[in-house]
Amino acid sequence: MGQPTDILKNCTPDRIFLVGFMGSGKTFYGKKLAEKLGWGFVDLDEKIEQSAGMTIAEIFENDGHFSFRGLEQAALRETFYFTKTVIATGGGAPCYFENMAEMLENGLIIYLKTPPRLLAARLVGEQNKRPLITKLAENELRDFIKMQLTVRQEIYGKAQMVISQSKNDLAFLDKIMENLRLFNVF
Ligand code: S3P
Repeated sequence: MGQPTDILKNCTPDRIFLVGFMGSGKTFYGKKLAEKLGWGFVDLDEKIEQSAGMTIAEIFENDGHFSFRGLEQAALRETFYFTKTVIATGGGAPCYFENMAEMLENGLIIYLKTPPRLLAARLVGEQNKRPLITKLAENELRDFIKMQLTVRQEIYGKAQMVISQSKNDLAFLDKIMENLRLFNVF
């Protein structure tokens, strides 16, 4: 685990899924990665909002958490038909149903591994559109991240590729590209 398996070497995947905690930069780096590759880009949360006609916050408020996870699974499965596409998943997407196993079967998963202090720094002030953390004070947010990561990290870690970042740095994109080249994925 952690690096592309032999099967992936020399084999360009049809799609790349970016996974990781809220604030790990899946959308930010996903857009840039897609641009570099000349691929399409899909943000899973945006896709859910478009088909539901509601924001993520409204879906949680009106229909509840579990309903959101159902919509998330359906939207994720639709992406399995897209080709040459980078997909930024929501932080919880790999952790429900068989989503992680299904993504592993349908593309290359890259886990954007990010330390809790960097996640917290990025998420402060960005909480409103994220119902799970909207009401948390700064210290509660840090505890929430640490607690959730103890559970989620193990799931994220099943990705074929794990790439770590420790600060805000555009060079992280180069690191992702280097890893893709190193394993001849591109
Ligand atoms: C969630 C992460 C969010 C969004 C929803 C739930 C989670 O996506 O899907 O608020 O469970 O971690 P981002 O990771 O893009 O913020």
